[in-house]
Formats: sequence, C-alpha cells, structure tokens
Amino acid sequence: MTESTKTGTRTTPATSTAATSTAPSTTPPVPVPIPVSFPQDRTCPYHPPTGYAPLAEARPLSRITLFDGRPVWLVSGHAVARELLADPRLSTDRGHEDFPSPTERFARVRRRSVALLGVDDPRHNTQRRMLIPSFSVKRIAALRPRIQETVDRLLDAMEAQGPPAELVGAFALPVPSMVICALLGVPYADHDFFEESSRRLLRGPTVEDTVTARDELEAYFHALLDRKRREPGDGLLDELIHQQLAEDALDREELVSLATILLIAGHETTANMISLGTFTLLQHPGRLAELTAGLDAGRSLTPAVVEELLRYLSIADGLLRLVKEDIEIAGSTLRAGDGVVFSTSLINRDDAVYESPDELDWHRGTRHHLAFGFGVHQCLGQNLARLELEIALRSLFERLPGLRLAVPAEKVPFKAGDTIQGMLELPVSW
Ligand code: HEM
Repeated sequence: MTESTKTGTRTTPATSTAATSTAPSTTPPVPVPIPVSFPQDRTCPYHPPTGYAPLAEARPLSRITLFDGRPVWLVSGHAVARELLADPRLSTDRGHEDFPSPTERFARVRRRSVALLGVDDPRHNTQRRMLIPSFSVKRIAALRPRIQETVDRLLDAMEAQGPPAELVGAFALPVPSMVICALLGVPYADHDFFEESSRRLLRGPTVEDTVTARDELEAYFHALLDRKRREPGDGLLDELIHQQLAEDALDREELVSLATILLIAGHETTANMISLGTFTLLQHPGRLAELTAGLDAGRSLTPAVVEELLRYLSIADGLLRLVKEDIEIAGSTLRAGDGVVFSTSLINRDDAVYESPDELDWHRGTRHHLAFGFGVHQCLGQNLARLELEIALRSLFERLPGLRLAVPAEKVPFKAGDTIQGMLELPVSW
C-alpha cells in the first residue's frame, strides 16, 4: 500500500518533471498535491501553523504546490526525513535551475552560489573540514567564560535601566551577535550594519531590498577581508584567509560567502531561539516554575530543557533539497529533478517518535530532533547554539525571576512563516 492510499490522498499517474514514458508500470502513482500553501505564518509562535494539519495527517510524505505553481514533495515524517537527509542522491545545490524556491525572495537570491549550505560534496566536504575544528565541542566549551561575561554585561545594563525592556534588542540579539563577532574576528562596532542587512536579506521589505542587502553584506566582507590581509587579527576569518593564502584552498568568492553565512547563521538563529524560547517559557508557567525552582536550588539548566525547546520550536522550518537520482521511499518514487521540502515543525512532532508531541515536556529526554537538520549539512554551529542558549536562558531567569510579558501575549509581534521563526520584539517587565 502506498503512503498516499494509506493516508487517503488522491493519486494520479506519475507527472513529475523527470518522469518518462519508459517508467515501469509498477511505479507508484504520484500523489495529487494537497492544497496547502507552504510556508505559512504560524498561528501561535511556538506551534506549527494550523494550516499544516492536512500535511501532518498525510505523514510521512505528501505533495504540495509552491508559490510559483511548482509541485514538490513535503516531508513530515521523522524516519523518512532522517533517511532522506542522509541520502547523497539529494542535492543542496542552490545554483541548479531545478532547485525549489519556497518564496520569490529565495528564488532571487539563491542564484548566486552559497557556501556550505548551497553546495554538495566533494566541495562541501572541503569547505566544512576547514571549519570543523573551530566548532568542536572542546573549542566551543572554551568560550563559556566569554559568553557568560557577555550575557552578564547585557543583563547588568538591562537591570541598570530598569523595567520595562525590549528583550530582542537588549538581550536576545546582542548575545549571539557579540559572540559570533568575537569568534569570526568581525568588529562588533559594525553590528548595526550587519544586523540590519541580515534582517533585510532574510525578510524584506521587498525582494529588491533582499538583493541589495545581500550585495551590501558581500561588499562589506570583501572590504573586511582586504583589511584583514593588511592587519591580521586572531578570529576564524583570519585563520581562513591565512589558509586560503597558504593552500589556495578557497577562492575569494567562497571566502566571502562563508563569512556571510557564518555571520548570519551565527546570530539570527540563536537570537530567535532566545526570544521565542523566553516567550514560550513565559507562556508555560508550570514548566517555568519547575525550571526556576531548579535554578534556585543551585541546579543548572539542563541540556534536556534546551533540546526540548529546540524540538518544540523548530525555528528553521522548511529545509530544501533537489532529487538527483530516483529514490524509492515510503511507497513513493521521488524522481530526479523533483524538489523536496522538509517541515521540521511537523517532523519534530511526529507522534511515532514523541509521545504527546504538542506538549512542552523536557522530561521526555528529547533525542534525535531535527531542529539542526540531519546528514552532512547538519548545523555546524549547534554546539555553540546549545551553549549560548543554556547560558542565556539560565542567566536571564536567575537574574530576573519575576520576568513577565509587558503586554498581552497576543500583542507580541512574531516573525512571518517564510523566515526563521522568532519574535520581532519582546516587551518584558520584572
Ligand atoms: C538555535 C540556533 C540554530 C538553529 C536552529 C540552526 C539550524 C540549522 C539547520 C536546520 C541547518 C541545516 C540546514 C539544511 O540542512 O538545509 C543549519 C546549518 C548550518 N548552520 Fe545552523 N542553526 C543554529 C545556529 C547556528 C550557529 C550559532 C551557527 C554558527 C556559525 C550556525 C551555522 C550553520 C552553518 C554554517 C550551517 C550549514 C552547514 C552545512 O551546510 O554544512 N548555525 N543550521
């Protein structure tokens, strides 16, 4: 029985772009796309959009139609997601003309090659190997005192100013921004520029603006790299420049692209997890009381809390791939040339893996979530993100145990569905 018949989805004969008349007659029919748009804005910032319900019902695999009318596969099942994300027959080559675009904005910026996330092996492996030592558990653990100091300084400033405060600007964004700047060797004095450019690159206001922001960020890094060549510093970018000069292992465009992705991925994602994580805890008073009681008793914020928040919030929702060779999976055939979208918010709430998945419960001992993706492109910065989250959330609730929203929850603005999920602003008091 195919997944589509099992879930009651209507089917038609194979119609994907790469399907040919020579396909064997046993080929499973291609499911008719479910009329659900993707991505959608969340109804509640910490739950998948209610509009995704038919996609959850069609687990593990269904078809949807993207904004440009293109039918693609939508993965919502945990086991199928892990199998596919580890499959080298799926490509992340964003420069390929068949690569799927979830939005017009993405379609416009993807055409230029993106380091790491947008390249396949063996090039991907070469780029990633250069960075792995800098993101190892040991190297990241050594940053603990520096991250703690950054967090403490920001909380000092917030306390000195007194309530209320806007937590995204005062805390959630500067913590990872300062940390990634120090790690890369990017002057934090430039943070207004790159935070604003990253914001425009990721979410507008117009597609033109997105393209301009990308160009401005790249121009910034070209100039920074020139400066670093003349006056070397001690950040990761300096190491990469040195390596590039010594071994000719990276070309200049790659170096600029790597710097851009590391800077954006390094601050936007974690900032969103801090702001949305805080909001979510404030909306779950029972859980928060348990957490703060543990902190009062001198216990640390356990890794289980961070893992469960990562699973529950799944802020990077909609990973993209292109099928390079036909793949048989879950009773369906993914054809070469097909696009695939992974909805991590649905995958991480697969009830075949997580009991009562819609509940925030760190006692489940959350494991194997896909909030950081899976396979060769699994998040390079995950050790750093975990450490920042643990320190930021523990310190915030330790220092301000009376933290609360300064406006009703429904008035707190959060980000649109076509981007990394998080809060636009988070007005708090204590
Ligand atoms: C909580 C915060 C974060 C989340 C939820 C997150 C999520 C993800 C996800 C889902 C992917 C895989 C994308 C795919 O397979 O298409 C990814 C890749 C990546 N992330 Fe993160 N990330 C976070 C923090 C960071 C940080 C702090 C850095 C630091 C530099 C970082 C750097 C990267 C890079 C370079 C990649 C591409 C890896 C590759 O293609 O080999 N991320 N991230």
